[in-house]
Amino acid sequence: MDNRPIGVFDSGLGGLTCVRELERVLPGESVIYFGDTGRVPYGGRSRETITKYARQDVAFLRSHDLKAIVIACGTVSSAAIELLRAEEALPIFGVVEPTARRAVELTKNGRIGLIATRATIASGAYEQFMHRADRAVQIRSVPCPLFVPLVENGRTQRGDIVIETVVADYLAPLKEAGVDTLVLGCTHYPLLREVIGAYMGPDVRLVDSGAEVAHELADYLARRDQLSDGGAPGHHHWFVSDSQQGFRDLASHFLGRPVTEPVDKVDIESY
Ligand code: DGL
Repeated sequence: MDNRPIGVFDSGLGGLTCVRELERVLPGESVIYFGDTGRVPYGGRSRETITKYARQDVAFLRSHDLKAIVIACGTVSSAAIELLRAEEALPIFGVVEPTARRAVELTKNGRIGLIATRATIASGAYEQFMHRADRAVQIRSVPCPLFVPLVENGRTQRGDIVIETVVADYLAPLKEAGVDTLVLGCTHYPLLREVIGAYMGPDVRLVDSGAEVAHELADYLARRDQLSDGGAPGHHHWFVSDSQQGFRDLASHFLGRPVTEPVDKVDIESY
C-alpha cells in the first residue's frame, strides 16, 4: 500500500482527459497535476525545446513526494520519454506505447489512422510501437496543429462551424484511406470525440490515449502492492503556469466534473 500521489503533467489542459480516466480506473489515488498553460502548445516546437520544458515539468512534480509520474501528453511521450526515464528514479508512464498496442489489437482491416501534433507525428513513435506489435499494419498519419488551440479555447461542440470545418479538412484523407481505427494521439483530442466520431462514422473505432495509460498504471501499482489504501477518494491538487481562473473556467469540460480542489500557480521557468 502506498498513499503517495501520482504526478501527472501536460502542456496544458489536455492531460486532464487522462486524469478523468485515472479517476475512473483508480478512484482512490491522489493526483498532483501540472498543466504548462503558460507555454502551451508544445506540439509545434523542436525536440530540444520540448525536452527542456519536460525536464522542468518533471523537476516541479518532483518537489512533491510521488510514487509515479504520468506524461499525459502525446508530444512529450513521443519526444522525450526515454531521456526522462534515464534521468529519473521514479517510474514514468507515457501515453504512446499502451495506446499504440491497443490500436493494433482493435483493428480488423489492418488500416490505422493516427492524428496528433506535428512533433508527435515527426517523432515516428506511434508507428514504431504499432509496427513492433504487428509489422503488417498500415498507418496513415495526419498532424492536426489547429486542434490544441481550438480545444484550449473551448471550440469543441458539434455544430461549431470552425471545429467542424477543421475536422473535415484534416480527416478527409483518413476517411478516404478506409481506416477502421483512429488513434487520438494527443490528450486534447478526446474533447473532440463527438465531432470526430460523427465525421468518421460509426464503423471507425476511436482510441483514446488517456484510458490506456490509466490501465497500464493500475496494473503496475497492483503488481507492486502500491495502490492507495482506498479508504477515501484521492485528494488532488492542480498547478498551472498561467492564469488559475483560466484553468478553473475550462478544466471541468476536460475532467467531466466540477473542479473543487485548489489551483495554484507555478513559476515553471525557475525549475
Ligand atoms: N496534450 C498534448 C499532447 O498530447 C498537447 C500538445 C501540445 O501542447 O501541442 O500532445
